[in-house]
Amino acid sequence: MKNIAVMTSGGDAPGMNNAIRAVVRSAIYHGMGAYGIYYGYEGLVNDHIEPLTRQNVSRILNRGGTILGSARYPDFKQLDVQRHAANNLRRREIDGLIVIGGDGSYRGALALHEQGIQCIGLPGTIDNDIPSTDYTIGFYTALNTAVESIDKLRDTSFSHRRCSVVEVMGRHCGDLALYAGIAVGSEFIITPETGFKKQETLDAVRKSYLSNKRHAIVVATERIVNVHELAKEIESYTGYETRATVLGHVQRGGTPSAFDRVMATEMAEHAVGLLAAGIGGRAVGLRGKDLVDVPIETALTMEKTVTKKRYGLVGRLVE
Ligand code: F6P
Repeated sequence: MKNIAVMTSGGDAPGMNNAIRAVVRSAIYHGMGAYGIYYGYEGLVNDHIEPLTRQNVSRILNRGGTILGSARYPDFKQLDVQRHAANNLRRREIDGLIVIGGDGSYRGALALHEQGIQCIGLPGTIDNDIPSTDYTIGFYTALNTAVESIDKLRDTSFSHRRCSVVEVMGRHCGDLALYAGIAVGSEFIITPETGFKKQETLDAVRKSYLSNKRHAIVVATERIVNVHELAKEIESYTGYETRATVLGHVQRGGTPSAFDRVMATEMAEHAVGLLAAGIGGRAVGLRGKDLVDVPIETALTMEKTVTKKRYGLVGRLVE
């Protein structure tokens, strides 16, 4: 393979820069040219493609976001748009492409693969929602951000004898809420996997109040419940004065954690190795301690397994 390209797509995630850097350096190691595609699939279609050198990716290891920019681009579902994108790559003799993103980005990678471009997907999203991997780049940094924020909320909740209801991101995956809930010792978590059981939530917080605890924390994944409404209900049912906080996009930014940096680097190096061997159509992931790669179609059709034992740690697994 003469040249390969890299792009970031969908919601950005801390660690994407580490993956970009590793792609470029690894491509050079394998004797290939490296290109960067700016602003995801939209940039690819609009021919926003530039060569990347070692200098272009220096001093980005500790930077959040993505130097390449990112975008969500629904038009990429159209076949003529996909063909046009593939031609933009062929014109530059780019035969391989690494797409760093979530499941929407993988669908685009699969489409391009079907247009004859060797594509590899790297899991880059704070949601940890890609079933073919135990881990996605950016998850642990976002988790640390959520935990740090909730710790601060606990300080003020403790002072005022209050309950904090905290909404974290995650889209359709409860991992951010689950792990954060364990890390901060929350009274209750509400995730897509547990569903929202109002009475159980209220009872758990009330129990905490009756046991004389000075603060309580409920962590909820976005899109399941209106946390402001829930805060009012908790306040009138439990005795705790209650406040709601939506953490929002703050979870997407910041310096990537050491773990996210290392994993992003290793996954990217693995991806380049596949392309250098002429292999495409794969999605890279982590299974246990091993780097693995599976067909992109498989990554898109697998079901994410839920660790019931981990839910049990928060005290209740709703069957
Ligand atoms: O997929 C990452 C994510 O941050 C989700 O957790 C969230 O639902 C979504 O992106 C927000 O998207 P946007 O940045 O387009 O508002």
